[in-house]
Amino acid sequence: MEKQDKFYITTAIDYVNGAPHIGHAYEKILTDVIFRHFSQRVNDAYMLTGTDEHGIKIQKTSQSLNIEPKDFCDMNAQKFIDAWKLLDINYSQFIRTTQENHKKSVQNIFDKLLKQGDIYKNSYEGLYCAGCEAFLSEKDLDENGFCPIHKKKPEVVKEENYFFKLTKYKDRIINHIKQNPDFIVPDFRANEVLNQLENLEDISVSRAKSNVNWGIDVLSDPEQVIYVWIDALSNYITALGYDTKNNSEKFDKYWSADVQVIGKDILKFHSIYWSAILMALDLPLPKHILAHGWITIDETKMSKSLGNVVSPSSIMEAFKMDIPDALRYYMASAAPIGKDGNYSDNDFKEKVNAHLANSMGNLLNRTLSMLCKYFDGEIKDSFINAKAELFDKAKQTIDEVKHHFDYFEVAEASLKIIELVDVLNKYVTDSAPWTLAKEEKWDECGNVLYNVLEIMCVVSSLIYPYCPNIAKSMAKQLKYDINTKLDDINFKNIRSGKLISKEEIFPVFLRLDSELADKTKKN
Ligand code: ME8
Ligand code: MG
Repeated sequence: MEKQDKFYITTAIDYVNGAPHIGHAYEKILTDVIFRHFSQRVNDAYMLTGTDEHGIKIQKTSQSLNIEPKDFCDMNAQKFIDAWKLLDINYSQFIRTTQENHKKSVQNIFDKLLKQGDIYKNSYEGLYCAGCEAFLSEKDLDENGFCPIHKKKPEVVKEENYFFKLTKYKDRIINHIKQNPDFIVPDFRANEVLNQLENLEDISVSRAKSNVNWGIDVLSDPEQVIYVWIDALSNYITALGYDTKNNSEKFDKYWSADVQVIGKDILKFHSIYWSAILMALDLPLPKHILAHGWITIDETKMSKSLGNVVSPSSIMEAFKMDIPDALRYYMASAAPIGKDGNYSDNDFKEKVNAHLANSMGNLLNRTLSMLCKYFDGEIKDSFINAKAELFDKAKQTIDEVKHHFDYFEVAEASLKIIELVDVLNKYVTDSAPWTLAKEEKWDECGNVLYNVLEIMCVVSSLIYPYCPNIAKSMAKQLKYDINTKLDDINFKNIRSGKLISKEEIFPVFLRLDSELADKTKKN
């Protein structure tokens, strides 16, 4: 990635017709890890997330519960806000599509597109899937005539609707994808999109109020409401204060997005519809669209009917976790970029116990304990002598981690960090500082501890995006500034003098209890 000063990253905005589950959490964790990593590299990183609150599904669910749709949205949006707080998602802004400023900007966007002829009115008969909040064509359906994703028969809808001239932008979008092979990440998905572009039709962008009333009114035609995708996709710019007339400073500063993180199921909407809308508004496209894979539970697709929907809070409760770091780490490294991942209680417990407790946490704990036992917590001048091999490995790891993040390879980067920890563990085992102490080779012994502690400062910086609380606990004991930018790591953090006393040492991560495996509540 070229050197730049700002970084703008967004997530999909979640439908509020239910509570957040581990799939939603996966996306927000992935995004937050990327966001926190780039916060260590640029001056000004900004992350947007939020909730998608209009549409027929929310209208129907709230109706069936006999609640006003806005009250229903308020209640469920809060569940997402609470979940992201629990997971330490450090977003800069949370947008709700029911916010007045968003609604006003969406009306203006629609109005502008209508006036310039990109939107036109037409009567229409089509097959509507409420699950997708989209019209499907016959060839999209499975052998039973059902939506292949939601396994439901779409409704036949006959209406006067407004249409967006998607076909007008087809060639420009094809060219953009071909000329920017890194626009769609991972690149194996670009072909899928190019295929979808082959049979492109204009899309309906409004619904008759008689059929759908929970939406944003078309300014010039209040009998129509703006149908979800123009409303939802626009959030990425309305949140920054985009308006068709005068833009905000924030918009000018952050747009275009550096990366927009979404699930593979909504790639078409982002790479095709969203691109066309931006082209129609004469705005630059995002630099990258990152389509992540889906999370299964015990290798099974999550679904209400199977009763295997897992929420992030239920995992945290089952394992009695007081910080979310382990779950963040596990989810962020659950799958190679763009591939599907899986959550299982046993695998979760085993992996985080091995990586975070045994390898990383214990290493710091053992090293600091030896420093206290042999040297009363003091680093002597004579200890400070960098072992080039290790320092080179650490520098190389920083470069590799940055390189992986340039391609949003979050799981791949985590492996590099653990690899560095493993190298340190092997170094301690091989140099056996406890034997050196027995032999009273004090300088050699102290030098081993020094080398490990200096490089643990690097480890704490690199692991910070995944495990912010653990990283802070490590940094606290190392007297290291966790806010150090990656390019400013100077390998001169451990200095001569007293580093720590025995009472100040504490474990940064406690092993998850093995007896609790497979107790995560599923509902
Ligand atoms: O699609 N694993 O909302 P949504 C991984 N409102 N990711 C998953 C997942 C799973 N099992 N289930 C869902 C919408 N997601 C629209 C988006 S954006 C302008 C509008 C992901 O609540 C999904 O892929 O159905 C999407 O990126 C996000 O969660 C929200 O899904
Ligand atoms: Mg969905």
